[in-house]
Formats: sequence, C-alpha cells, structure tokens
Amino acid sequence: MAICFLMVICFIWMPFFTSAALLTPPQNITILSTNMKHFLIWSPVAEIAPGEVIKYSVEFQGEYERDYANDSWIPIAECTDVSITQCDITEDISATVPYNLRVRASTGTQASLWATLNGFFNRVTTSLIPPMLTVTTDGYHLLAELEHLGPAFEFWIFYWKKGPESTVYHKVVRESTTTVHLETMEAGAEYCVKAQTYVEAINRSSNFSEVQCVKSEDAKVILLTFAPLFLIIFFVAVLVLPFLAWKTCRICQYSFCPDEVLPDTLKLTASPAKILKERGEEMEKCDESVQVLPSEDILLHFWIHETL
Ligand SMILES: *[C@@H]1O[C@H](CO)[C@@H](O)[C@H](O)[C@H]1NC(C)=O
Ligand SMILES: *[C@@H]1O[C@H](CO)[C@@H](O)[C@H](O)[C@H]1NC(C)=O
Ligand SMILES: *[C@@H]1O[C@H](CO)[C@@H](O)[C@H](O)[C@H]1NC(C)=O
Ligand SMILES: *[C@@H]1O[C@H](CO)[C@@H](O)[C@H](O)[C@H]1NC(C)=O
Repeated sequence: MAICFLMVICFIWMPFFTSAALLTPPQNITILSTNMKHFLIWSPVAEIAPGEVIKYSVEFQGEYERDYANDSWIPIAECTDVSITQCDITEDISATVPYNLRVRASTGTQASLWATLNGFFNRVTTSLIPPMLTVTTDGYHLLAELEHLGPAFEFWIFYWKKGPESTVYHKVVRESTTTVHLETMEAGAEYCVKAQTYVEAINRSSNFSEVQCVKSEDAKVILLTFAPLFLIIFFVAVLVLPFLAWKTCRICQYSFCPDEVLPDTLKLTASPAKILKERGEEMEKCDESVQVLPSEDILLHFWIHETL
C-alpha cells in the first residue's frame, strides 16, 4: 500500500522532473557594459521538440534584496518571456553595488532551472569609451563639439596653444548638446584640444580622445575675407550718412515751426492772397509756439518789444 502510494506520488511528479531535466538552463551568461549601458546576454537554448518557441526570463538581486529582503529576486518586466537572448538591464542597475542576475528558459508549460551569472556585476566596471570630439574654428573662436551620452556624463576638455611651455586650460561641460566656445584665438596660432568623459556615479573617467589641432586664421586672411564687407560698409557710409543728415535737418525744421515749408504744388496753384493768408497763419502758429515760455523769457520779450 505504502509502496503503491509512493509510486503514485512519483508518477504525479515525474513530468516536472523530466521537463526540468529536458530543458537545459541558458549558458554562457555574460554582461556587456559600455558607457553605463548594461546588457545581459546568453547562448540560445536548444529546443526539445521542433517548432517549439523558447522564451527567456531574467531576474536580478541587488544588495538590498540580499541583505534585507530575504534573498528575493526581482523580475525584469521588459525581459520576461522574451524570445531574444539579451536583456537591457541599464534601468535596473541603479546603484553602484554588486548585482546578481539569473535567467531561465521556458516553453509553454515547461521551464528550465535558473542559471546564474558567474560572480556579481558592479557598474563600476563599465568600459568608458573616449568621447567623439570635433574641433572647429569660427573666425577667431575655438569651438568643440561632443557626442551626447546622457545626463550621467560630464566632459572634461583640455586645450592649449601649441608652442614651448604652453599652459593647458581645462573646461568642464555637463550639457554636450551644444557647441562649446573654448577660447578666442590669437591670429596665426595653432591650438590643440583633447577630451575625456567623467561619470560621477562611479567616480571614473575615460581615456582621452585623440588630440585634435586647428590653426586660427591669419590677420591677412581675415582682412581678405572681410574686404568686400568693409567696402560695402564704406559705400553705405558715404552715400547714406549725408542723406540722413539732410533728413534730420528737415525733421528739425518741421518740429520747430510746423507747416512752414509747403509742398511746391500748393505754392504754385494757390493765389498770392491765399499764400499771404497762410503765411500769416504760419506766423501765428510760430508765435503760439513761442508763447509757451518761462516768465523771465516773457519779460525779456516785453523788454525787447518796448525798447524797439
Ligand atoms: C558558450 O561559449 C563557448 C565559447 O564562447 C562556445 O564554444 C559554446 O558553444 C557556448 N555554449 C552554448 C550553449 O552556445
Ligand atoms: C524569509 O524566508 C523564510 C524562509 O524561506 C520565510 O519563513 C520568511 O517568512 C521569509 N521572510 C520574509 C520577510 O519574507
Ligand atoms: C574619486 O577617485 C579619486 C581617485 O581616483 C579620489 O581621490 C577621490 O576622492 C574620489 N572622489 C570621490 C567623490 O569619491
Ligand atoms: C586606456 O588607455 C590604456 C593605456 O593607454 C589602455 O591600456 C586601455 O585599454 C585604454 N582604455 C580604454 C577604455 O580605451
């Protein structure tokens, strides 16, 4: 009876043991980590029956889960039941502590045992690649352009004027989206630039990029390039300034004594009497404008009138 009972139990559990034994766990689990982007990759598992789709699931365990959460594992949602053999774990590796990672294969109802990464992964080991640097000039301005790597990255730029005993200057850039102005160059001098990335979260920096040198334009070259522009400015000055001066005089005249200068057509067509009348009105207008004077001026006015 007891043997029969045991046999029944064995029979019931048989499929689970066999399936676990049949579907091998993924092998060659490794981490590829470059510039703070981390990927878990593994070798594909051979299918048991032809046409069966093999899916993979990944879980991780950080220091907190190991020490305070009973050795629990956290599934990575984007890497649950996926058919590719890699997983972007960048978002889950959020601290500079050792992480453990595991992956298993499954087909429909069967699942393999978990296969764990050999050793821990710490993001401090990421490979930092020297940044892509483009050095250009704009007139006398020395400019540097850097690739965009995300908010975790700082760029340390070093630049110097080529020559004996030159000082090396240093600039830190946090936003790499725009072109950085480094220096106003001396005419005809050569300047060199190199850069490295720095990640504060891991207190590490990359190697330097290759040194790039550019020569600033000679004063003569600048003069030649801008000669036509200077010529245009000169002509504009010669032609426009006298006109502006004349225009300004006219405006002054109008504002001091409005309507004094009448259009020529009106002068020609109007009768002499009308012109005289208008002249009179103009005089009045001018007088009106003169009447708004400080009291001493009025006294002076009177005195002049009396004496004359
Ligand atoms: C694991 O990697 C080794 C060497 O890179 C290779 O020979 C082997 O076939 C791989 N295993 C699997 C299951 O692909
Ligand atoms: C931790 O695991 C043990 C045994 O695996 C279990 O008894 C206990 O309840 C677990 N504690 C927590 C907080 O999950
Ligand atoms: C970063 O590392 C350097 C040595 O490589 C060390 O001198 C410095 O104190 C570290 N800074 C921080 C904030 O840990
Ligand atoms: C940085 O430079 C050193 C020696 O110059 C070299 O051994 C190392 O591989 C370089 N690292 C990277 C990430 O290029």
